[in-house]
Amino acid sequence: MPIILALESSCDDTGAAVIADGVLLANVVATQKVHEQYGGVVPELASRAHQQHLLPVVTAALAEAGISKAQLTAVAATQGPGLLGSLLVGTMFAKTLALALGIPLIGVNHMRAHILAHFLGAARPAFPFLCLTVSGGHTQLVVVRSALAMEVIGQTTDDAAGEAFDKTAKLLGLPYPGGPLLDQLARTGDPRRFAFPSGAMGGYDFSFSGLKTAVLYFLKKQVALNEHFIAENLADLCASIQHTIVGTLLHQLRRAAAATGLTQVALAGGVAANSGLRAALRAEAETQGWTVFIPDFAFCTDNAAMVAMAAHFQFEAGDFASQLLSPDPRLKL
Ligand code: KG4
Ligand code: ZN
Repeated sequence: MPIILALESSCDDTGAAVIADGVLLANVVATQKVHEQYGGVVPELASRAHQQHLLPVVTAALAEAGISKAQLTAVAATQGPGLLGSLLVGTMFAKTLALALGIPLIGVNHMRAHILAHFLGAARPAFPFLCLTVSGGHTQLVVVRSALAMEVIGQTTDDAAGEAFDKTAKLLGLPYPGGPLLDQLARTGDPRRFAFPSGAMGGYDFSFSGLKTAVLYFLKKQVALNEHFIAENLADLCASIQHTIVGTLLHQLRRAAAATGLTQVALAGGVAANSGLRAALRAEAETQGWTVFIPDFAFCTDNAAMVAMAAHFQFEAGDFASQLLSPDPRLKL
């Protein structure tokens, strides 16, 4: 029975998880608060914080799982994509531990892990399925043929969906990360009050930088006429922005599902928490006859449990890394 310790350190969350024969035994995450004051992740501070958090997080995960280091069968770490300094901390730790314990090393693709988070819970899609991965760093439409064979059919050409939420929220004066707050405020607003441009591109690609610019110029114009414009229309602004982002995502998802004939539709990444996206996806599923899969929120945001699940599939396939494993900030799916 493989018992794997998995590490996640691609961005600003330090995670460690233990999985035994595909069953999650522990999942610990330390979120870095240091970035809030800067309104975004500061890479150098992220890697320093990973260095501080990693050992305590690993120790806590092993204790929670009731597993000793000697019982481990393999060690896994996120290889990429992500921030180079952050990835270096996790991969170096995993390489060192694997070498010291004389056990195999597994390098995990972070985007694949987001998708394989669907296999941590009870409701699991069957292969093949379509997955929309939406986070602060990524927006991808993926045809998932198996745990190890995935094809990106659409992606963002500039900002990620989460970035679109965070950057427009910042323009409205909301603190970082603004996505969850914008979602909350949107609940009482009118989504059709203001019209912003869709980010649906050719093929199944996305572009959200135009939305950010459109919101910026719209607000500048309105605030020049009425300095209280944002405060007086905050809920409607949030609802209209959310409506635009969700509409863009759903538009491409609908087209991709029609073209591939896939009827199992999965959502992954931190933006899966967005209530507007969840509601729109559920409504669309009813119309289209899709079965929708959304993992628990703890498995949507960055975490090591999903890395552990991916590592489990790779272990079964004999997909191991050597001590030459190096982080790849731009690792492709
Ligand atoms: O997956 P994640 O935790 O980290 C990355 O890998 O990026 O995603 C974080 C992103 C942030 O942009 C955050 O604002 C967004 O997910 N987010 C949301 C909501 N909850 C988190 N965006 C909109 N509505 C939400 N409820
Ligand atoms: Zn992520």
